[in-house]
Amino acid sequence: MAIPNEFINEVKARNDITDVIGGYVNLKRNGRTSKGLCPFHSEKTPSFTVFGDTSSFYCFGCQAGGDVIGFIRRIENLDYVEAVKFLANRAGMQMVEENKNDGLSKMRLKIREQNREAGRFFYRALYSPEGGQALDYFHSRGLSDETIRHFGLGWSPDSWDALTRHLANLGYRQEEILAADLGYKSRNGGVIDRFRNRVMFPIIDLQGSVIGFGGRNFTEDARGGKYVNTSDTLIYKKTNNLFAMNFAKNSKSNELILCEGYMDVIALHQAGFTNAVAALGTAVTPQQAQLMAKYTDKVVLSQDGDEAGQKSISRSIPIMKDAGLSVRVLEIRGAKDPDEFIKKYGPERFKNLLDGCANDIEYSIMRIKNKYNIATDDGRLHYLQEVCGFLSGLSPLEREVYAVRVADGLKIEKSVVLSQAETQARRKKYEEKRREFRDMAQSTAGIGDKVNPERSRNLKGAIAEDALLCLLFSHQDMIAQAAAAIKPGEFVTDFSRRVYGQFVKLAQDGQEVTVSLLAQQFSESETAEIVRIINSGETKGTAEFGRLIDVIKEESSRTKPQDAAHLSPEELLEQMKKLKQKKS
Ligand code: CTP
Ligand code: MN
Repeated sequence: MAIPNEFINEVKARNDITDVIGGYVNLKRNGRTSKGLCPFHSEKTPSFTVFGDTSSFYCFGCQAGGDVIGFIRRIENLDYVEAVKFLANRAGMQMVEENKNDGLSKMRLKIREQNREAGRFFYRALYSPEGGQALDYFHSRGLSDETIRHFGLGWSPDSWDALTRHLANLGYRQEEILAADLGYKSRNGGVIDRFRNRVMFPIIDLQGSVIGFGGRNFTEDARGGKYVNTSDTLIYKKTNNLFAMNFAKNSKSNELILCEGYMDVIALHQAGFTNAVAALGTAVTPQQAQLMAKYTDKVVLSQDGDEAGQKSISRSIPIMKDAGLSVRVLEIRGAKDPDEFIKKYGPERFKNLLDGCANDIEYSIMRIKNKYNIATDDGRLHYLQEVCGFLSGLSPLEREVYAVRVADGLKIEKSVVLSQAETQARRKKYEEKRREFRDMAQSTAGIGDKVNPERSRNLKGAIAEDALLCLLFSHQDMIAQAAAAIKPGEFVTDFSRRVYGQFVKLAQDGQEVTVSLLAQQFSESETAEIVRIINSGETKGTAEFGRLIDVIKEESSRTKPQDAAHLSPEELLEQMKKLKQKKS
């Protein structure tokens, strides 16, 4: 371990876990515990929990868990040392000694440099004689040379190794080119260019460095798909970045326009809407929403008019609202996407569209309404049912406001709509509680537990072990007492035995047991399980102590009679007596 523990403790002390995670996840506080939607898997009701008391987090939905450093590692895609650095920086601390031989940091730098070189290479190629067709393509789509330069667009030559050769000439080694994903291993073992004969869109981070590319096919030959994109590398994570955010962050507008494609964004910027960004193909991710929320609190969704675009709107709205963004939805009519719209109708019409677009609630209600024919009784009934389901997910105030509109539209009493919506809201709340309870019950029972596979077979013992570990974590002065009363070898499950062993060892070394120290001894999923355990009790009184130890001892002697080799002669005799009694 290169970084001293004192430094790590200091970093942690100055980075309150709830504050740090609150920068990424919209948390609802309840005392020292907070909850929000998990950034590591997609969910509609929050299972992601941050425990202020133990400085840890755990997701009951996907079993992710750890300390603040583990959280940063995962969300920022960093290694351990970098995550510590990141947090040290955040707290304005000087990093003790920089580890100069850090291989990963070096590789990151190499990847950055290669991306910069590749960006220049593609741009030069676009304006070379061979690039004529690609340049014509950009021009035919209405892009000016000024726009092409601004975005650093380019062309990847029609060659197997034009770029990889160029990079090799600059001194980059094969594994570095592979790590940048600018080349990949061909079937015969050589490295070939990732992008061949495509128009290139560089993806640029907030500091202005190229970190990846999208390459679009522009010829008749459709081989290899419409787009080829850089896959995740040490410096690029698709789900964390937004195309053109480097420009949009400086836009004077207080709103961002979120589009689907590179071409939409570029066309909008060229037309003066420099606040446009793209989520690179899929529905927006929580990380992307948080990134937007750093710069604005208002976003206009401007997806393509097709079914896929509409679906992505429905998925994106809750994610954006969870990041604290207010959302409006732009409905494009008469064109398939913003790019085409601007070309057909011009920037003024697009501005009109922007000014008049509906907020997310109006949009959702309209979408539901369009599904039914409300001229018929049957249609009205089904519309009412579905729209009340939707209203039930809103805040009471919003529910009130929009119930009036729905009621007016149907020419019925507002109270009918409201009471329907409220009933459904109550049912939802009840189901959520049930689900939460089921998740808890399942993880307590160890169903599908990979970290501690013995758990479900030794439930009674394992539960006692959890309770003891939880108790000891919050009353660390009792670890010595425990060590005298029960040896790790007397634990029932192997996993708890190892965790307990570490507790005892750390305590004997005079160290405080922290999630961070444990994380150095256990894998990521094991650490997550430890976090679950130490947060599983309502910190019961120490009165339980003796009873828990008794249960563990009893359970382990009950479940391990076959391990005769470990027993003393007296114990062996005792076991045999018991067995005899059972038979008779
Ligand atoms: N995309 C992708 N891979 C694909 C298709 C799409 O990565 N096979 C991503 C790209 O980021 C693309 C966005 O999804 O920009 C939207 O897709 P689409 O509308 O098809 O592309 P446009 O960029 O709008 O391209 P064009 O207008 O030239 O069709
Ligand atoms: Mn398009």
